[in-house]
Amino acid sequence: MNNAKVLAFAGSARRDSLNKKLSRVAAERAKQAGLDVSWIDLRDYPLPLYDGDLEAEHGIPDNARKLRALLDQHQGLIVVSPEYNSFITPLMKNTLDWISRRDGDVDGLASFRNKVALVMSASPGGFGGMRSLALIRQLLSHLGVTVLPEQLALPKAHEAFDDNGALKDEQLQNRLDGMVQRLAQVLRNWS
Ligand SMILES: Cc1cc2nc3c(=O)[nH]c(=O)nc-3n(C[C@H](O)[C@H](O)[C@H](O)COP(=O)(O)O)c2cc1C
Repeated sequence: MNNAKVLAFAGSARRDSLNKKLSRVAAERAKQAGLDVSWIDLRDYPLPLYDGDLEAEHGIPDNARKLRALLDQHQGLIVVSPEYNSFITPLMKNTLDWISRRDGDVDGLASFRNKVALVMSASPGGFGGMRSLALIRQLLSHLGVTVLPEQLALPKAHEAFDDNGALKDEQLQNRLDGMVQRLAQVLRNWS
């Protein structure tokens, strides 16, 4: 049987994004758990702020189409959500909004249905961005994604990674491993 395919990304375009670092670690550990993982950087898929007039005049932007095509090729998602003012980032919301739009005969929501996701967050603060987790969970669930109950909020994330980008805390690493193994197990039995 082929390994299940998982798309991993973070809701920050920042070069030194802590959430991107966490998404890279999660992607790496998911590979070791036997998943076939694609890691993407949303910086490579810039999109205008959603505007219904823009959509009516120019249609769905190419980058939204590319992201949708990527989604279609994967059964699993690892979504790492930074927290701005106790919320998900505008980049995360805008990206998911564009992908969810109908494109001619293509129902945007169809790309989200029947997917399984893990959600995580990272912040220099003491709560690790955990307030954004409830919101990204709500948004993905609304889009039709099954979001696994396991989640990780990484506090003091600016101190959490070593020079190779690995998590310094072994306990956290083990927790992350447990989460990606759970994702692999669910996807093995997913139709
Ligand atoms: C507008 C704004 C609001 C923020 N609000 C929060 C917040 O509510 N909670 C939090 O933990 N961090 C907050 N932060 C700090 C971010 O967690 C921090 O900048 C983090 O590094 C952003 O994620 P990134 O490193 O992946 O880019 C905020 C940052 C910005 C720019």
